Amino acid sequence: MQLIVCKDYEAMSLKAAELAVEGIPAGRGLISFPGGDTPLGMIGEFVKMVNQGKADISQTRYVSLDEWVGLGVEDSGSCAWFNHTHLLSKLQKSFLETHIINGKAADIDAERRGLDSFIEQYGPLDVSVLGIGMNGHLGFNEEDAGFDLNAHIIPLSATTKKVMHKYFTPEYQPEQGITQGPKQIMAARRVILIANGAHKAEILSKSFRGPVSQAVPASILQKHPNCFVVADKEAAAGL
Ligand code: GLP
Repeated sequence: MQLIVCKDYEAMSLKAAELAVEGIPAGRGLISFPGGDTPLGMIGEFVKMVNQGKADISQTRYVSLDEWVGLGVEDSGSCAWFNHTHLLSKLQKSFLETHIINGKAADIDAERRGLDSFIEQYGPLDVSVLGIGMNGHLGFNEEDAGFDLNAHIIPLSATTKKVMHKYFTPEYQPEQGITQGPKQIMAARRVILIANGAHKAEILSKSFRGPVSQAVPASILQKHPNCFVVADKEAAAGL
């Protein structure tokens, strides 16, 4: 793991966007960004680079990382809504193709298979940008999600349920998440995990200084050969 400690959120966002752009191979590529609060700045910087012609995504495909089962693109706070609002609608040049998980699909298992097929056809991911949950989850790979899983549907952990209403109103009560699996994340050519704020310090330290264990999903990244952790000073305090 290569640790990059940044002086603040803005510096973290810029560095992560630069690493993401650098990881896109010329003439092709598959990339994935997370939802949540952490990546807002990074996505803003990425959009700027594309719109200013500093990054070429014309041959790059984009796949979303995860989604709340039961929420769709029209539901404010869903991951699909996040992708459309902060990324896709802001880009003046488009990706070659996008695959955004539909958490409202009538057949959610077919949706899961569709995610697997897309990654199998166009993958492995060249760049996987990830946030980290308070329990160490990556996407919705909650505690004890098998490290050998591809895309899967999983009950949300108590920790995730506690924090989820910062994204959407309590009328939504999702019970499950659909997510890329650890196997697909670990197959990515470059992983960029971003974290900011003192509240992420403990879980970052557990993930990268503790043992590799399914109880802390992000700890699997210790075994990734090309993983960057880009964190602000507060989040990196225990690393
Ligand atoms: C969410 C998402 C993750 C995200 C994480 C951290 O529940 N499933 O993909 O990375 O939790 O979110 P935040 O950046 O808001 O702390």
